[in-house]
Amino acid sequence: MAIAAWGDRVSPAPVLLLLPLLVSSGSGADYVLDSRGGLGREFDGIGGLSGGGATSRLLVNYPEPYRTQILDYLFKPGFGASLHILKVEIGGDAQSTDGTEPSHMHYEDDENFFRGYEWWLMREAKKRNPSITLIGLPWAFPGWVGQGENWPYDFPDVTAYYVVSWIIGAKQYHDLDIDYVGIWNERSFDSKYIKLLRLTLDKAGLERVKIVACDNLWQPISYYTLRDSELHRVIDVIGAHYPGTFTATDALKTGKKLWASEDYSTFNDEVGGGCWARILNQNYVNGNMTSTIAWNLVASYYEELPFGRNGLMTAQEPWSGHYTVECPIWITAHTTQFTQPGWHYLQTVGHLEKGGSYVALTDGKGNLTIIIETMSHNHSACIRPPLPSFTVSPQNATFYVNGPFSQLSALQVWYSKLDFKRSNMTLFKQLAPLQLKKGAFSLELDTDEVYTLTTITTGQKGFYPDPPKSQPFPSHYKDDFDARNPPFSEAPNFADQSGVYEYFTNTFDPGEHVFTLRQVVTQRPITWVIDPEQTISIIGNYSWTNMTVTCDIYIETPETGGVFVAGRVDKGGSPARGAKGLFFWVFADGTYSVTIDLLRKVVLKKGLSGVRAREWHTLTLHIYGHLASGMLNGYPLWKDLNIEGPHNGWAAIGTKSFELAQFDNFSVDAS
Ligand SMILES: *[C@@H]1O[C@H](CO)[C@@H](O)[C@H](O)[C@H]1NC(C)=O
Ligand SMILES: *[C@@H]1O[C@H](CO)[C@@H](O)[C@H](O)[C@H]1NC(C)=O
Ligand SMILES: *[C@@H]1O[C@H](CO)[C@@H](O)[C@H](O)[C@H]1NC(C)=O
Ligand SMILES: *[C@@H]1O[C@H](CO)[C@@H](O)[C@H](O)[C@H]1NC(C)=O
Ligand SMILES: *[C@@H]1O[C@H](CO)[C@@H](O)[C@H](O)[C@H]1NC(C)=O
Ligand SMILES: *[C@@H]1O[C@H](CO)[C@@H](O)[C@H](O)[C@H]1NC(C)=O
Ligand SMILES: *[C@@H]1O[C@H](CO)[C@@H](O)[C@H](O)[C@H]1NC(C)=O
Ligand SMILES: *[C@@H]1O[C@H](CO)[C@@H](O)[C@H](O)[C@H]1NC(C)=O
Repeated sequence: MAIAAWGDRVSPAPVLLLLPLLVSSGSGADYVLDSRGGLGREFDGIGGLSGGGATSRLLVNYPEPYRTQILDYLFKPGFGASLHILKVEIGGDAQSTDGTEPSHMHYEDDENFFRGYEWWLMREAKKRNPSITLIGLPWAFPGWVGQGENWPYDFPDVTAYYVVSWIIGAKQYHDLDIDYVGIWNERSFDSKYIKLLRLTLDKAGLERVKIVACDNLWQPISYYTLRDSELHRVIDVIGAHYPGTFTATDALKTGKKLWASEDYSTFNDEVGGGCWARILNQNYVNGNMTSTIAWNLVASYYEELPFGRNGLMTAQEPWSGHYTVECPIWITAHTTQFTQPGWHYLQTVGHLEKGGSYVALTDGKGNLTIIIETMSHNHSACIRPPLPSFTVSPQNATFYVNGPFSQLSALQVWYSKLDFKRSNMTLFKQLAPLQLKKGAFSLELDTDEVYTLTTITTGQKGFYPDPPKSQPFPSHYKDDFDARNPPFSEAPNFADQSGVYEYFTNTFDPGEHVFTLRQVVTQRPITWVIDPEQTISIIGNYSWTNMTVTCDIYIETPETGGVFVAGRVDKGGSPARGAKGLFFWVFADGTYSVTIDLLRKVVLKKGLSGVRAREWHTLTLHIYGHLASGMLNGYPLWKDLNIEGPHNGWAAIGTKSFELAQFDNFSVDAS
């Protein structure tokens, strides 16, 4: 890496004629940045997506000061990622990739705007950056929205009412203005519904809330938008997922803003950083996209769930306070700290001669930010789509900053080099300002570098002392669910994979169990994946082999109800339905069973237990080596059962169906 400013150059057009002096040393290609021919598109910002699903689950329970530090690295302007956009899932009580997120309306006559952690996260983001853009998007819907059908468009007025009530609640209870709302993540859209959503928003006085459609591919939404003038009127943004930096002709023809409304989703090491650097520039250069949103914001879910660590940073250990500011945070900063939504791209953006790309943006008031990336193919592949081959090699580049910028005499310089041997990585380092002479400067570019050259002087590499060391999940863990923290309705570390488990104050039959954890989803949701028929919440360490899991349980549904405790549970997230492990069930009909699967297909043992609904019982499950035994209320119920199935996995609690049930005094001792 080296920088040289070359003076004595007359700026504008016939640049090439002036080059011979330099060309002799193989000095590389020239690039002219100018806004006199008009500006490019308006920039809408870089964002992170929390949810889709449950990706911030573990973050909310981080101890201070670490939780504040993580939020600062994500949202605080001029500190870290300084994100312009926070997109969140509108919880739908169903599995949405790494867990379920609670709905604000579990039932038709129910409204609660304090469930889960997305409200809290939006407030924290807004506190740090009052102008952050907020977006909501559903993955799933509570069952009542579809009136029993696994489909949200049969009763489009109900769906629109449900979504708009979330936006109204955001304002009413949290003073949050939602800026954009989406349709149904990566699933079908329905033109009639989109129009009705617009109408419902307008009737609620929410004309300012814009619509993104439809968080899937460029087609067929662009096709229909072009041919249906009413649809064209109500859609503000065409949002596509994982576009591979390219758009579609029809999408361009709509004249709408084009966004990569979900992108990245790559393990957050140096290759993840390279992927992010490449697409942040090239989504505009190749695909005219003016916003890119990373799934996910922060990897705050058990790493063995699907897409572990596919977040801009990692915060998956609330029990230790440990977190890692991964390189995608600093790659984000290269753009976010030196631009804002409302700035415009220059038309003069493009590819570098020997690979890589450059973009330039202006605020229209004299500020200029140039971002250059030279990511090599191997070091910048995202998880999807496949990356066509290209080569990048070291090169010299001379930039001519013309037109209104020709008087600039210096630019601030921020530099990263992703070094894949990890021996010499540089992340978001401020270098000496670059002096321009008559608007020209040259860079000696190596591969896998990012440069920001800017008039903005407020860049900062935020810093907190190292957080505590990484620790495994405690092997002796207890929760009596009495330490209720009202704003966050789920118990720490429990990660719901089907159903929703909430703190509950048992006033109808408390006995000594006043504060409990209750499964509250009573109808199968409109699902985003094929959810199990059962509900399950996992906890602990995926590498646990031996464990004793104990929990007080209370079945609420007579005759047909049932609950379980489990160990060695080997799957969560979208494949949760196929989870295996060792499941100890008791049912309201007075029987019990032991199965190796959540779906209860493979029964190892069954018999009578005497358990009844609406009574508290204590279940204990011991799993050691290849043997397991179960106790009820402290007495052996079944013993020394030879087990098959997974060798290791999480502990879990759950219910037989979508039914109310309570849990108390959970504990696990594991190794
Ligand atoms: C899309 O971007 C390309 C490259 O920057 C540009 O030439 C083209 O005019 C843009 N098209 C539209 C419709 O914005
Ligand atoms: C650039 O941006 C800064 C900070 O937003 C602002 O104060 C300044 O007036 C802008 N214009 C120039 C030419 O620096
Ligand atoms: C890129 O990766 C491929 C496959 O892993 C490998 O064969 C090739 O040598 C790599 N190329 C470079 C330039 O590192
Ligand atoms: C870039 O320019 C420097 C200085 O003129 C020269 O030494 C170097 O070989 C050039 N690099 C390339 C890749 O052309
Ligand atoms: C490490 O990077 C610096 C520049 O940031 C460079 O001067 C130095 O030679 C590099 N060292 C190695 C071992 O690559
Ligand atoms: C699980 O335990 C293993 C072995 O102690 C440890 O390396 C790992 O970090 C732990 N993971 C979690 C999520 O606690
Ligand atoms: C179980 O929890 C209740 C309160 O929820 C508490 O009163 C009781 O002592 C606990 N029992 C045990 C054995 O921890
Ligand atoms: C699990 O328990 C079995 C039987 O007691 C024992 O042989 C094995 O070493 C234990 N494994 C671990 C990881 O503690």
